[in-house]
Amino acid sequence: MAEDVFKKIVSHCKEYGFVFPSSDIYDGLGAVYDYGQNGVELKNNIKQYWWQAMVLLHDNIVGLDSAVFMHPTIWKASGHVDAFNDPLIDNRDSKKRYRADVLIEDQMAKYDEKIQKEVTKARKRFGENFDEEMFRQTNPRLLDNARKRDELHARFKAALEANDLDEIKQIILDEGIVCPISGTRNWTDVRQFNLMFKTEVGSTAEGASTIYLRPETAQGIFVNYLNVQKTGRMKVPFGIAQIGKAFRNEIVARQFIFRMREFEQMEMQYFVRPGTELQWFQSWKEQRMAWHQALGFGAENYRFHDHDKLAHYANAATDIEFQMPFGFKEVEGIHSRTDFDLSQHEKFSGKSIKYFDPETNESYTPYVIETSIGVDRMFLSVMCHAYQEEQLEGGDTRVVLRLPAALAPTKLAILPLVRKDGLPEKAKEILNDLKFHFNCKYEEKDTIGKRYRRQDAVGTPYCITVDHDTLTDNSVTLRDRDTMEQQRVPISELRALLEDKVSITSLLKKLA
Ligand code: GAP
Repeated sequence: MAEDVFKKIVSHCKEYGFVFPSSDIYDGLGAVYDYGQNGVELKNNIKQYWWQAMVLLHDNIVGLDSAVFMHPTIWKASGHVDAFNDPLIDNRDSKKRYRADVLIEDQMAKYDEKIQKEVTKARKRFGENFDEEMFRQTNPRLLDNARKRDELHARFKAALEANDLDEIKQIILDEGIVCPISGTRNWTDVRQFNLMFKTEVGSTAEGASTIYLRPETAQGIFVNYLNVQKTGRMKVPFGIAQIGKAFRNEIVARQFIFRMREFEQMEMQYFVRPGTELQWFQSWKEQRMAWHQALGFGAENYRFHDHDKLAHYANAATDIEFQMPFGFKEVEGIHSRTDFDLSQHEKFSGKSIKYFDPETNESYTPYVIETSIGVDRMFLSVMCHAYQEEQLEGGDTRVVLRLPAALAPTKLAILPLVRKDGLPEKAKEILNDLKFHFNCKYEEKDTIGKRYRRQDAVGTPYCITVDHDTLTDNSVTLRDRDTMEQQRVPISELRALLEDKVSITSLLKKLA
C-alpha cells in the first residue's frame, strides 16, 4: 500500500515537472536525477528557507561557497580515502549488490512494523478502553518481537563497532534475510567499498594527478575556517554555512532521490570552545528539529535516531528521521566532530590553523558541531507529506500537493474566466503588478475547473479568477487550495493578503 503511494509520488514528480530521471532519452543514469520547472522552484525555496534560518537569523553565522575540487590531501587528512566505506554484499543468484548494514536495518524495521501492527489491531479491538502501555508490557507476541529486535540491534552494534565483516554476514544468514529479487540466501562475503569518485586533473598523463569529487561539502568549510574567521572578524562561537553538490558512488541506488550519486547538501559547521561542544550539540539538535517542525508536517512524523556506530570524527551524533512511505528515514545528521578535522588539516598541511581567543588570551583548535541535511532528501520528505489523493463531494477526485505555501513553486495562479471580453488583458495587468513580489503563473487554457486541478497538482496555494464583474468592481475570486473555499477580494488588497502567507519570512517568524 505504502509502496503504491510512493510509486504514485515518483510518477507525479515526473508528470508535473518536478523530477526527471537524468539522461531520460538514453534510458536514465542510475541514481542521478534532474529537477524540472517546478522541482527547481521547490528546491530553491527549501534552500532559501535553510539559508535564511542560518545566515539571517544568526548574526554569528556566515556563508561560504567553496569549490567541488579540492587538494587531494584533504581527503587523506579527513579520513575519507581510508575510511569512507560502506559494507557491500552480493547475491550470487540475482547478481544484485546490497549494503549489508541496510539489509540488517530493514530487518529491524520489520520487527518494528510487526510490533506496530499488533498495537493497531488491539486498538481496533478494544476501542476506547485500550491501554497501550499495558498492552506493550504484557502481550506475548509483541514482547517476543521486541526481544528479537533488541537482540539483533545489540549484535549489529557490536559488529559495527568491531568492524567485523564476517559477523555482519553471519547476522544476515542467521536472520534468514533473503534477496528481494531472487528470494535466496546465496550471499557472498561482506566487503568494504570506498564511495569517493576519482578523476584526474591536468592534461598530460605525466602531469595528471588524481583528485576526488567531494563526498561532503564540510571539508571546504574546515579548510577555509581561518580565512573566514580572520576576514569576518568572527569570534568563537561562530558558524559557516554552505550549500553545494556532493558526490558518492553509492552501492545501492534505490528509493528515487533518497539515495543519489550526485546530490546537494546544506551544511553548517559551528566552531566552539573545547569542552562546550556537547552543550552546543544539544542546542543544535533542538534548533534543527524546530526548523523541520515549523513546516507543520506534525511532530509525530519526526524522531531522533542516535548513531549505533560513531563516525571516525565524532563524539556524539544523531539523525533527524522523517516518516516516509517506506518508514522512518534519515533526512539530517547532527554531529559533534570534536577537533578532528581541524587538527588533521593542521597536521597534513603543516600550517597552524589555531584560533586565538581574545577573551581567554589562549590559542586553541576549536571543536565543531555540524548540522548536515540533504536538499534532495528534504525535497522528498516534503513531497511525500504533501501528496494527497482526495475524494470530493459528488464523487469527483483530485490530487493535491499540500505544500507549505512558502515552499510552493507557484504562489498564485491568475486565471481569466474566458479568453475574451478584455478578461485576459485585465488578468495580465494583475500579473504584471504581482510578479515583482512573488511567483505567479498566468493560465487561460481549459475550463476553470481543469485549471484549478492542474494548480492543485503542483501545489499552488492560491488561484484568482478574473471574471466580468472584475472589470467594474476591481475585485477577483480568491480560491484556497486546501479548503477550496472562495472569497471575493479587491485587487488592491491581494498583495498584502498573500505576501505574508507565502513568504519564507512567515516560516522564519516561527523560529525567531
Ligand atoms: N558532513 C557530514 C555528512 O556528510 P552524512 O550523514 O553522510 O554526513 C548528511 O550526510 C546528509 O546528506 C544526510 O542526512 C542526507 O540527507 C544527505 N545524503 C547523504 N548521502 C546522500 C545520498 N547518497 N543521496 C542523497 N542525500 C544524501
